[in-house]
Amino acid sequence: MSPFLLLALLGITVPGVQALTCYWATLMSVKNASELPLQWTASQKHCEEGWSCQEVLMLMENGPYVYMVLIKGCTQAADHEDLITQHRAGPGLSITSYTRVCREDLCNHLFTSLPLWAPHPPTALGSVRCPVCLSAQSCRSAAELTCPAESTHCYSGHLLLRAGEPDRDLRNRSTHLRVQGCMSQAGCNLLNGTQEIGPISLQETCDSEAMLICHRGNMLQTSQDLAQKPVTWSTNTEQLCNRGEVCQETLLLIDVGLRSLLVGSKGCSKARTQDSQAISTHSGPPGVLVASFARFCTSDRCNSAASSSVLLNSLPRPAAPAPGDLQCPTCLSVFGSCTQNSDTVTCPKGTSHCYQGHISLRGGGLSSPVDIQGCMAQPSSSLLNGTQNIGVFSVIEDRDEAIVPDGAAPAPYLAWVAGLGLSLALWCGAPSLLTPFPHDS
Ligand SMILES: *[C@@H]1O[C@H](CO)[C@@H](O)[C@H](O)[C@H]1NC(C)=O
Ligand SMILES: *[C@@H]1O[C@H](CO)[C@@H](O)[C@H](O)[C@H]1NC(C)=O
Ligand SMILES: *[C@@H]1O[C@H](CO)[C@@H](O)[C@H](O)[C@H]1NC(C)=O
Ligand SMILES: *[C@@H]1O[C@H](CO)[C@@H](O)[C@H](O)[C@H]1NC(C)=O
Repeated sequence: MSPFLLLALLGITVPGVQALTCYWATLMSVKNASELPLQWTASQKHCEEGWSCQEVLMLMENGPYVYMVLIKGCTQAADHEDLITQHRAGPGLSITSYTRVCREDLCNHLFTSLPLWAPHPPTALGSVRCPVCLSAQSCRSAAELTCPAESTHCYSGHLLLRAGEPDRDLRNRSTHLRVQGCMSQAGCNLLNGTQEIGPISLQETCDSEAMLICHRGNMLQTSQDLAQKPVTWSTNTEQLCNRGEVCQETLLLIDVGLRSLLVGSKGCSKARTQDSQAISTHSGPPGVLVASFARFCTSDRCNSAASSSVLLNSLPRPAAPAPGDLQCPTCLSVFGSCTQNSDTVTCPKGTSHCYQGHISLRGGGLSSPVDIQGCMAQPSSSLLNGTQNIGVFSVIEDRDEAIVPDGAAPAPYLAWVAGLGLSLALWCGAPSLLTPFPHDS
């Protein structure tokens, strides 16, 4: 007998010493109440070391229907004894859950809905009648039934249920459920404040016009070649939008040559435009490239671009530019400052200025200041040319004309950023004169 099995038989667990095997299953489906109690089977899975076994069962009862969510798998959540919670008491619509996290092989061994379900004694009927429905499709043909005596109101709403995260395989499970039934309360409060049941997240709305579901999530990546090499642009959650909102996805690329940055956002957004898609090149090439993809759309999960190629495929692809005469400090720094980090590069032909400034991005759940230095062609010395909105982002560009680093001689610095062509050419050809930039001194 293995020492671990012996310890397990004695009821002693040794945390963290072995990877567990857990039962593994996901089920989200509408059942007929006459099928309860339900039984199921599950496969098995080897978990990563230190992970526990998880068990979550949620039942939403609604007259003749039951919606069941079952999740078994591996999790990093803290261990806890079995817990039964009544999120919404019946009669009429009710929601209960059973959750458990344990650290023994195959300890998530619940195979029946019994802990959450007992045969109902016959309920006295009242006088209120409500359409009763529980469906992932439509409630158009819902039957009207007489409610239990305590039910005084009809409920009609939408739930978005997502089974996320205990395990990567579950990431894309989500259901948009139409719910109509009997309640003992008015209003849109079926969930009674419940937002999460273990790895299940729940969202509710009763606004019949607010039924749009959008992909939701942000990304921020820096690397050398994001302007050339497409990267995955995925999200792992979804969102039920408020009335008047649409789905949006925005991708902003900034490439200074040595480094590039990609910032992406997906989610619901106040309608800036109903259905639109725009690809814009705000600056460059040659020099600092700033380009964006922005889409607003109005059907479920329509903000579904899966890769940055939606933007890259539309970018100008000039042949590798010949080096010019200009040299500029070059840097791209998110949440940081460039003055310590700049490398000097020889700029491509066609550029005439060095740029130094920053762009602050806000919106779509992101807020990132980006410091930028690099080569630039446009005489305006601006990367965004006054643009204030890029998709869901509000953008503000600031050129650092007023900042004089310590110990610097102000005159050449000011002349430098002011972009006087002649002086530039002179100073850039002689980098040792560029005292304002610390890396050069
Ligand atoms: C549930 O199942 C019973 C018996 O199988 C059937 O008579 C009834 O119509 C079903 N109810 C619903 C709502 O599907
Ligand atoms: C709502 O939730 C609270 C605790 O979260 C619970 O005490 C109360 O009974 C619930 N209400 C109903 C109607 O289920
Ligand atoms: C959702 O997950 C399943 C496996 O669990 C996979 O086969 C399917 O392709 C995924 N769908 C999407 C849209 O990612
Ligand atoms: C900058 O914006 C102005 C006014 O909106 C426009 O006339 C001009 O063409 C823009 N310049 C560039 C280089 O896009």
